[in-house]
Amino acid sequence: MPIKVHDKTFDIYLSEAEIQQRVKEIAETINKEYQGKRPLIIAILNGSFMFAADLFKHLTIDTEISFIKLASYKGMKSTGNVVTSIGLDAELYGKDVIIIEDIVDTGKTLYNFLPKLKDHHPASLKIAALLHKPEATKFPLTLDYVGFSIPDKFVIGYGLDYDGRGRNLKEIYQVV
Ligand code: XMP
Ligand code: MG
Repeated sequence: MPIKVHDKTFDIYLSEAEIQQRVKEIAETINKEYQGKRPLIIAILNGSFMFAADLFKHLTIDTEISFIKLASYKGMKSTGNVVTSIGLDAELYGKDVIIIEDIVDTGKTLYNFLPKLKDHHPASLKIAALLHKPEATKFPLTLDYVGFSIPDKFVIGYGLDYDGRGRNLKEIYQVV
């Protein structure tokens, strides 16, 4: 069933069950890899809030979570310029940090932000992205955990929005 959000039509791309299954798998991998450690999850708002919450619920290791906000997106086009970075108040020094991002598109947002995190000297730094658009990625980034590699088409749902709308959808939809 196509849906309409603002002026665009979207078709379902990933079902709720597919997303939940993959999120659980990533959490299980993190549980194994961080056994005996206490990773600090840093979720990048707004888009990653659902992914971060669902992933966090499946973590059985000792762990903490903190949220920060970066903004680089207006409408359907990434500007890549990080305009804000607020809430980075957690102590990162010596911590095993895992960044949670909703989607890596050009990669510019994370590429520009990572040095700011590295300045705090975490013991380790990994990235978990629910979605990755490999064809669109121009900045060299190592993504440690990727939910789904997707085509370079705009998507919404499960936290992702088109100008503020669509975040509450349980599925991920792709623009037609
Ligand atoms: P860059 O290009 O810096 O972009 O990797 C990352 C940020 O851009 C947003 N983004 C999207 N948001 N549907 C969205 O709702 C998309 O298809 C999309 N592609 C990129 C997102 O906020 C991400 O953090
Ligand atoms: Mg976003």
